Amino acid sequence: MHKRDFPNFLASTAETTDDGRLFAPSAERNAGPIADLLARVAPETGRALEIAAGTGQHAATFAARLPGLHWQPTDVDPTRLASIDAYAAQSGTNTIAPALQLDATSHGWAATHGPRDLILVCNLLHLISETEARTLIAEAAACLAPAGCFIAYGPFKRGGVLISEGDVSFDTRLREHDPEVGYKDDKRIIDWATKDGLILVETAEMPANNLAFVFERPAG
Ligand SMILES: C[S@@+](CC[C@H](N)C(=O)[O-])C[C@H]1O[C@@H](n2cnc3c(N)ncnc32)[C@H](O)[C@@H]1O
Repeated sequence: MHKRDFPNFLASTAETTDDGRLFAPSAERNAGPIADLLARVAPETGRALEIAAGTGQHAATFAARLPGLHWQPTDVDPTRLASIDAYAAQSGTNTIAPALQLDATSHGWAATHGPRDLILVCNLLHLISETEARTLIAEAAACLAPAGCFIAYGPFKRGGVLISEGDVSFDTRLREHDPEVGYKDDKRIIDWATKDGLILVETAEMPANNLAFVFERPAG
């Protein structure tokens, strides 16, 4: 199992409760806007897979907002799984499955985790290499059910350009820590997913210069 060493400046989580829940201020800020997007574009029913679920704040928010979906949170980091389960337990929903360990950059996971009506990845693609991102998207595409929806949210370059000083600074720090990682280009993400047979439904502008790509697997 491959897990990249995350730089200290990304360690924005702190354990806040005695039931093991971690808290990420960024997840608190962006959960609402992402939930609004999901409520608008995601299937109302079916099986959802969340990649890189992190603390579990997102899973609790999204599952509560989309009660017709069975929500499967996953993360590569085993220490996150207890936090995700703790958020699920206090979410007031019964649609969140126990968190599973999944390295989304490994080859072949689509065969054992699908078919899925929704696959969501937030804030991971800039933290992995181009090769790993390419594999993740190919596996997600292969894991989708017909008419299934794949959503990738996070910071991206636009036509090769970093669009703000904050983005330049963040991308530079990421690459200084690990030259293989950093912001991916929007056009490359679309190109990869399209080659994997997905259709781009929407590129949504999100708060704080983030984007959300909404792809769909053809129904037939
Ligand atoms: C910046 S956090 C984002 C968490 C959450 N999705 C959010 O937006 O708040 C990145 C997460 O990706 C997970 N991660 C890193 N490499 C991964 C991989 N190869 N497969 C799956 N998850 C991974 C980390 O453990 C961490 O929980």
